[in-house]
Amino acid sequence: MTTANNTQNIPFNEAQQAWLGGFFAGMHSHILHSAGSGDAANARTLTILYGSQTGNSESVANDAAKAAKAHGLNAKVLGMDEIERDAFIGLEYLLIITSTYGEGDMPDNAQILWEAISSDDSISLANMKYSVLALGDTSYDLFCQAGIDWDQRLTKLGATCLVERVDCDVDFDQAAESWISNVVPLMSNGAATMTIDSDDTAKAPTYSRKNPFPGKLVVNRLLTSPESSKEIRHYEISIAGSGLSYEAGDALNIVPTNCPELVADIIKAIGCTGDEEEPVHSQLMPLSEALREHFEIKTPSKELLDEIARRSGDQELNSVLASGDKDKLAKYLWGRDTLDLLLPFPNMQFSAAEFLALLKPLQHRAYSISSSGKANPETVHLTIGSVRYHSHNRDHKGVCSTYLADLADEHSAIRCFFSPNKVFRVPEDNDLPMIMVGPGTGIAPFRAFLQEREFRQAKGLNWLFFGDRNAATDYIYQDEIEALQNNKVLNKLDLAFSRDQEEKIYVQDRMREKGAELFALLEQGGYFFVCGDAYRMAKDVDKALHDIIATHGNKSDEQAAEYVNQMKKDKRYVRDVY
Ligand SMILES: Cc1cc2nc3c(=O)[nH]c(=O)nc-3n(C[C@H](O)[C@H](O)[C@H](O)COP(=O)(O)OP(=O)(O)OC[C@H]3O[C@@H](n4cnc5c(N)ncnc54)[C@H](O)[C@@H]3O)c2cc1C
Ligand SMILES: NC(=O)c1ccc[n+]([C@@H]2O[C@H](COP(=O)([O-])OP(=O)(O)OC[C@H]3O[C@@H](n4cnc5c(N)ncnc54)[C@H](OP(=O)(O)O)[C@@H]3O)[C@@H](O)[C@H]2O)c1
Ligand SMILES: Cc1cc2nc3c(=O)[nH]c(=O)nc-3n(C[C@H](O)[C@H](O)[C@H](O)COP(=O)(O)O)c2cc1C
Repeated sequence: MTTANNTQNIPFNEAQQAWLGGFFAGMHSHILHSAGSGDAANARTLTILYGSQTGNSESVANDAAKAAKAHGLNAKVLGMDEIERDAFIGLEYLLIITSTYGEGDMPDNAQILWEAISSDDSISLANMKYSVLALGDTSYDLFCQAGIDWDQRLTKLGATCLVERVDCDVDFDQAAESWISNVVPLMSNGAATMTIDSDDTAKAPTYSRKNPFPGKLVVNRLLTSPESSKEIRHYEISIAGSGLSYEAGDALNIVPTNCPELVADIIKAIGCTGDEEEPVHSQLMPLSEALREHFEIKTPSKELLDEIARRSGDQELNSVLASGDKDKLAKYLWGRDTLDLLLPFPNMQFSAAEFLALLKPLQHRAYSISSSGKANPETVHLTIGSVRYHSHNRDHKGVCSTYLADLADEHSAIRCFFSPNKVFRVPEDNDLPMIMVGPGTGIAPFRAFLQEREFRQAKGLNWLFFGDRNAATDYIYQDEIEALQNNKVLNKLDLAFSRDQEEKIYVQDRMREKGAELFALLEQGGYFFVCGDAYRMAKDVDKALHDIIATHGNKSDEQAAEYVNQMKKDKRYVRDVY
């Protein structure tokens, strides 16, 4: 297995320059524009399966398909939920590109296939040749676990691995590009390069992950009341003139910049001036600009942690790291950012180059879109909780949520790109019921769904479960919700304000109270959507759903699980959780 997670160990100007490097720029040079030398009918079929939650793996799968077509292969890109068990077992040439979600789990669209393939030891994959590209994030304990699981399982079932698995960190472009260029020729058995339709490139959108659109921020409004214990804001970003469009259910990714005060404090803490010129993405720039625009400076990388431990000799940090106990490390890091780790050691100095080499590239953040693209073709609405907390005697701010919240100039350009979410969609059938569970910022896509249903004049029943801490301060979009009720777009609403009474009340408690009605709607083919906190809420809502189906459907736990699985297969139980 090859890991591409340690780009920080490669001289940073090489590894990180490539981060934004255009794969297509490189790939186009391989494309022959001569008349069709390939014979599509006789071409070997290469299936490219992606497991993806927010579109990264899907986008790499599409890159791989373009490269495969250029090598004369008949490339088929499918989501893992678009192939049945038996068809999977019959595949001969396979690429798997998957991210990891939750805590080392499969992304939602890979779960059912994974369960089918991982639970049956009688399967033989002796005819299969494969390779796995795993996308992940080294800040998670179980780095790239889903890709690891697929790789190990396919080998165990007798498949032949043609190219070692590559595990990619958040800056996956370069590693993905080199995996594609290694694996595709082997899959094609050296077949001659053929033409790919020049239209393919002509059709490529101008703006994408690799070339974000500079959208104008036109609205930045506080949704929670000023007295609230939290801050949730409504944003509208103009995409007029971009040629881009989106669907309710998609996410918008925002490319933030770091807070200038934090940049200045870090520069001081490492003993630099900020004027040191360093190469970043093939360009010399002052350290201050590099830290502001290109590197993650809030959440410390593992390499930076190790180096601080080594240089400082700090007993506590060294003993936490030496213990290898991930929970201990998470506890130690909770509420501590990079600056908190540097401040106690004023004598620990880094050169600008040393420090940059220990950092990860600054990542975009994803946000579930809270508007319908049909009702609002020129703007994208977002509903974002600003991350602000006080710890270690300092105020801390989330990078992206406060980059937006604190923008002084309302008309600033926000670099953004879309992540389509093909399964998180308003049902095509306008008559089917929709049950939506979205506490806190989880309401975002359901505001979009309701706009979409209204736009379509859909007659299907709409039921929203929403809640937050306190009704008086945190009932966001209350006016809109009430208007939707009055207009009969929102037919049922159940609210759970957790802190308005002594005992906590959560959305899943409201679901249980209405269990019989909820089950009846599922029986009518209703869709069940969940959005918001992945770690606590989505798990408890899932448990409540199982219980409701068991109780009101008179089913055993196993039968209820089967029922839920069938809903997932039918894409009637879909989640957008984070
Ligand atoms: C598909 C998807 C959709 C999403 N949709 C939305 C959405 O619609 N609305 C929304 O608000 N968010 C949404 N998110 C989350 C969003 O992407 C960001 O993770 C979030 O805004 C925080 O980013 P940040 O840059 O502000 O914070 P970061 O700089 O990334 O900091 C967050 C980190 O700060 C630390 N932290 C946070 N709170 C505390 C605390 N109280 N005490 C100590 N430490 C703390 C934690 O380590 C946490 O991981 C979505 C995420 C995904 C993946
Ligand atoms: N790691 C954390 O501790 C933590 C904490 C908050 C938010 N977040 C993150 O913040 C984002 C979402 O924030 P948000 O403002 O949308 O929502 P949120 O802060 O998670 O809370 C929204 C509502 O959900 C309630 N809630 C808490 N635990 C729940 C559970 N197990 N089941 C159902 N409801 C539950 C909250 O109640 P109470 O708060 O009164 O319990 C609150 O009323 C996510 O990224 C989430 O992971 C993380
Ligand atoms: C809620 C959440 C949980 C994640 N859990 C893991 C994890 O356990 N291990 C890991 O390596 N990466 C994890 N990741 C990182 C994703 O795998 C990574 O961002 C990947 O590029 C996403 O690709 P996708 O858009 O194809 O889903 C997680 C990301 C999110 C938002």
